Amino acid sequence: MKKDLLNLNDITRDDLEKIFALAADLKKNRATADYKPLAGKSIGMIFAKSSTRTRVSFEVGIYELGGNALYLDQSKMQVGRGETVADTANVLSRYLHGIVIRTFSHADVQELARVATIPVVNALTDEYHPCQILADLLTVKEYSGRIEGVKMVFAGDGSSNICNSLMLAAKLTGMHLTVAAPEEYRPRKDLMSEFVTWETDPVRAAENADYLYTDVYVSMGFEDESRERLRILKPYEVSAKMMAAAKKNAKFLHCLPAHRGEEVAAEVMDSPASIVFDQAENRLHVQKAVLGLIFEGLKK
Ligand code: CP
Ligand code: NVA
Repeated sequence: MKKDLLNLNDITRDDLEKIFALAADLKKNRATADYKPLAGKSIGMIFAKSSTRTRVSFEVGIYELGGNALYLDQSKMQVGRGETVADTANVLSRYLHGIVIRTFSHADVQELARVATIPVVNALTDEYHPCQILADLLTVKEYSGRIEGVKMVFAGDGSSNICNSLMLAAKLTGMHLTVAAPEEYRPRKDLMSEFVTWETDPVRAAENADYLYTDVYVSMGFEDESRERLRILKPYEVSAKMMAAAKKNAKFLHCLPAHRGEEVAAEVMDSPASIVFDQAENRLHVQKAVLGLIFEGLKK
């Protein structure tokens, strides 16, 4: 694995297979695993945005790998008062062994990784959320036994960090991704590939789908656009009608947090087809595997 994980372009197919194998092993043997690649190491976790899953799964995961996690609220750091990202990267590289960061600007994370001499893992930016999508792919593999050729439909905000990351995942794995989104929130042109289709009709998009996936309509940092987003994206709510258009055993995915009655109907979110908590659990196992492989790679 490369030193840094900023988006899924940093992952090869070979890396992905190794992540899945290690994650599956750590998941199965969680209570007994004696795998401590972070023993004696401290990982700083810089958060400029709210988090439930990412913060907790990384903190617990780092602990279970033998390391020490430091939660760093970005608004309380000097970077919030004008210290440069590069100076911050230089200083933190002298204390820490790795950085996990959730912030707004993806360019800031690229700059941090460029200057830091220690690994940097993106825990969400406005543009990408690679750790989430690795957990999603593991979940698909667990349920379908494969990823290549599976049809996933992402409905809603086609311009979100989740959709951007799913588009990279489709190219990486050969999964077929259909993005059901309106023109205003259409998927990014530069991320389109032969594995991605854009469709404006949500029910037509859902036809023959193995998985229906959605994300909030108002991502963190976009609160000023709430009214407009909720109005324009309303027809893309993952509804029982959409689920009925999909394959008989289709599953529902959501990165969470969910807003019932906005991007997903409560009857879908709370139905047996919903595997969102398996998906959330896999964040822990996949991130442990990612950190383990990054730190094993540094030893070589
Ligand atoms: N899915 C996800 O990243 O959740 P949090 O925002 O709670 O970390
Ligand atoms: N697109 C959402 C994902 C939350 C995990 C956001 O950025 O707020």
